[in-house]
Amino acid sequence: TPELITEPAAWQARCAAARDGGARIALVPTMGYLHAGHLSLLREARRRADVAGGPGLAVASIFVNPTQFGPTEDLSRYPRDLDGDLRKCGEAGIDWVLAPSDPRSMFAPGHETWVDVSGVSQGLCGASRPGHFRGVATVVTKLFNLTRPHVALFGEKDFQQLAVIRAMVRDLAFGLEVLGMPIVREPDGLALSSRNAYLSADERARAVALSRSVREAQEATARGERDAAALRARARARLEAAPARVDYVEIVHPETLRPVDVAAPGSVMLVAAYVGATRLIDNGRLP
Ligand code: PAJ
Repeated sequence: TPELITEPAAWQARCAAARDGGARIALVPTMGYLHAGHLSLLREARRRADVAGGPGLAVASIFVNPTQFGPTEDLSRYPRDLDGDLRKCGEAGIDWVLAPSDPRSMFAPGHETWVDVSGVSQGLCGASRPGHFRGVATVVTKLFNLTRPHVALFGEKDFQQLAVIRAMVRDLAFGLEVLGMPIVREPDGLALSSRNAYLSADERARAVALSRSVREAQEATARGERDAAALRARARARLEAAPARVDYVEIVHPETLRPVDVAAPGSVMLVAAYVGATRLIDNGRLP
């Protein structure tokens, strides 16, 4: 089992010592309640830490970051299972886990510094969740400063989040590698998410509409459909039939995340929809 560290200051000192000792550090930031999507990042972190030949340091953080939740969102009922998470981290070969026992050790009263990424944070989830990406960028900055990893791993499931972090690392010269990892899915296509735990059996069955809507767009594009409006209308209809309440359906440029009118190879379809009370997201690259 990995070593559990609950004090950010102690974590920072331990990581600095490891780094000074020549260890290559790979970090996976998470909010816990780990599933196979997280595990793929954790296992890759183990491999990436060790690429230089020496035994590197593969580490993960588990912190339900209050600053990325809106006032009406699910912060207090976000699922948690620290014991199970530590076991899974151990199975994936993670050395140390930072799990702050008190959120005030990360965001003390009087915290007044925020990281705001403009372009790619706007639109999509940024439009429906005001302040969300500011909270993400700020906590990830803090985790980067506490850990100073050589490489940090994120999932493409949260495509906009990955773009926000890439922009931030580039613009503020964090001097680390950001590695994006493919979406891990259930056999029927549903993208794994901690929030899937909220779904009733009926909602779970309807939730497959998100991945289906993206896959249909990929298939239609492969058959020659290039009109983004037509592709979006079809995806929207698939979601509404589930039924799921559409938050957005967009086709965007993979780096700028600006909407496109004509789907080009590499354009990304992103969808967000409520299945019952649960908001789910999915995305996929168009061929
Ligand atoms: P969380 O939702 O726990 O996700 C942690 C990491 O796992 C993210 O990089 C996310 O993209 C990735 N992930 C989640 N589901 C995945 C799936 N099905 N396949 C592949 N990767 C998946 O994202 C966050 O936490 C937070 O916003 C965080 C970055 C930790 C900042 O608080």
